[in-house]
Amino acid sequence: MGLEVIDEAFVQAPEHRPKLTITEAEGIPLIDLSGGLTDDELVTEIGKACKQWGFFQVVNHGVPAEKRRRIEAAAREFFALLSEEKKKVRRNEVRVLGYYDTEHTKNVRDWKEVFDFSVEDPVLVPRNDGDGVQKWFNQWPDKPADLREACEEYVKEVQKLCEKLMGLIALSLGLPANRFNGFFIDQTSFVRLNHYPPCPIPHLALGVGRHKDAGALTVLAQDDVGGLEVKRKTDGEWIRVKPTPNAFIINVGDIIQVWSNERYESVEHRVMVNSERERFSIPFFLNPAHYTMVKPLEELTDEQNPAKYRAYNWGKFFTTRKGSNFRKLNVENIQI
Ligand code: SIN
Ligand code: FE2
Repeated sequence: MGLEVIDEAFVQAPEHRPKLTITEAEGIPLIDLSGGLTDDELVTEIGKACKQWGFFQVVNHGVPAEKRRRIEAAAREFFALLSEEKKKVRRNEVRVLGYYDTEHTKNVRDWKEVFDFSVEDPVLVPRNDGDGVQKWFNQWPDKPADLREACEEYVKEVQKLCEKLMGLIALSLGLPANRFNGFFIDQTSFVRLNHYPPCPIPHLALGVGRHKDAGALTVLAQDDVGGLEVKRKTDGEWIRVKPTPNAFIINVGDIIQVWSNERYESVEHRVMVNSERERFSIPFFLNPAHYTMVKPLEELTDEQNPAKYRAYNWGKFFTTRKGSNFRKLNVENIQI
């Protein structure tokens, strides 16, 4: 980063460039998880938000503010280190988790640097040649000294929130609250620390290009800078998600789209950058076990509602996406 000549790898095609003057719409629903709604009302709210937006924010979610502040502070400290220091935990062909600053989305470089760690350590994933399994290990930097502990403590809390949310989503689909639990026993969930440095060409580049999340559910902590935009389903407009202190932004990923046989859809989003302020965000990607065959749930399909997707192996899908910037599979590929 800190490039003097702007690398054209960052430049978006004209139709994908952001509008800098976009107005912030209140847009996506804000749901208070302990604000006196009955369980039935909560389920209805969440179902409506998943259907209309694929996105919502939650407050009073049970994740202690102090745990969140700690990981946010540790992330800032890590990204403030010299590049050589960060590159000691750089990802490579073998070590897929860790630091990198050359992420691409749809073949255009993203204006950001990231640090990934897995919830399970090691996490089991299929081998690249398709035969058997391999282990991916986390890589922890020496500095800041408390990064690892801050990350591990945070993740425990976010997982509890995920369980609650997946329960509410299951109920909203008319399923038992524990319907999804079994899929996450050997989860491949991971967390990404994102740093978006100030960008001299915010009208040409994006922090993250337009994309949908491939996993089940994403729980995102964004700071007060803002920049996340969600594609509104009704008219395809890009809507800015206004930062709400201590809230989490939740979105449905491709796996819920498939499980629900498209009752809920995974929605496109992207991140704008700005020339003045750097931005930090921390998404948690809830992903099932590598051996999960993802397919529409039988309870949600019948003769009137036939399955819209073929079953696919999550682990193979995941490693293909994560192992390469340029060969990303899309769930559209497995549509019937
Ligand atoms: C992402 O969607 O990958 C990142 C979201 C954000 O930084 O707000
Ligand atoms: Fe995303």
